[in-house]
Amino acid sequence: MVPAAGRGERLGPGAPKALRELGGVPLLVHAVRALARSRAVSLVVVVAPPDGVERVRALLDQHGLDGSDSAWVTGNAGITVVAGGATRQESVRLGLAAIPVEVDVVLVHDAARPLVPVDVVDAVARAVLDGAEAVVPAVPLADTVKQVLPAAVAGGPEPVVGTPDRSTLRAVQTPQGFRREALQRVHDKALSDGVEATDDAGLIERYDGRVVVVPGHEEAFKVTRPLDLVLAEAVLARRRARDEF
Ligand code: CTP
Ligand code: MG
Repeated sequence: MVPAAGRGERLGPGAPKALRELGGVPLLVHAVRALARSRAVSLVVVVAPPDGVERVRALLDQHGLDGSDSAWVTGNAGITVVAGGATRQESVRLGLAAIPVEVDVVLVHDAARPLVPVDVVDAVARAVLDGAEAVVPAVPLADTVKQVLPAAVAGGPEPVVGTPDRSTLRAVQTPQGFRREALQRVHDKALSDGVEATDDAGLIERYDGRVVVVPGHEEAFKVTRPLDLVLAEAVLARRRARDEF
C-alpha cells in the first residue's frame, strides 16, 4: 500500500507532494514502481488525496501502471486507487479496507520515499514471511540527538534534559511490513480509542505487539523539505549515469 494523500505542506506551495515530479516523473509513480519491482508484491493499493483519485488514476495510466498491461514495469502487480483521509493513519485504514481478505502480508510504503531500493522492500517482506508480526527498515543516526523541554515560543532556548545513547537509536523508513491481521487489529483499536501514532509500527508497539528492525538504506530517505528534492534529483541522476535503470 502506498499512502499518498498528504498535502506536503513542508515542501512548500505547489501540487500535493505525491504528484510533484522527480526526474520528470511523479514521486508517487517512483514509489509504486519501487514496490512493484519486488517479486513479493502482487497488488499495490494507492491511497490518493480525497479530491485527486481520478487524477492519480490518470497519472498511473500515463506511466504504464494501469495494473493490466504493465507487467514489464511492475512484475505483474495489480494496482488499485482509493481515496485517503485527513491523517496518514486514516489513509492507511482506508487503504487496508481495499486489500482483498486473502492477502495476509501488507507493506505500507510512503509515496514520499520514491527511491527505496528493491532490496529493502524484499528484506521487509522476507522478515514478515519468516514470522515477524511487524517489521521496519531503519538506519543508524548521523547526528547526536538531545532531548529537550520544548520552548513555549518557537526559536527560544530549550533546556537539554538528556542525550540518548546514539548507538541504540535508529531512524525508521518505509516500507513497513505487517501481518495483515495485526495491522488491522491495531488500526481498529486506535480508531475506537481515539489514538494517533506517527507510524503504523508505533500502533503495534502501543498495543504491546512486537516490532523488529531490519537494515534500511540511505536512498530510502523521505522527501519532506525542498532540499530533499534536490538530493533526490541527484540520486536519480547518479543512478541514470550508472545505468541502474
Ligand atoms: N499521507 C497520507 N494521508 C495523509 C497524510 C499523509 O496518505 N492525510 C502520506 C503522505 O502522502 C506521505 C506519507 O503519508 O506519502 C508520509 O507523510 P508526510 O511525509 O508527512 O507527507 P505529507 O503529510 O504530505 O507532508 P507534510 O506533513 O509536510 O504536509
Ligand atoms: Mg505529514
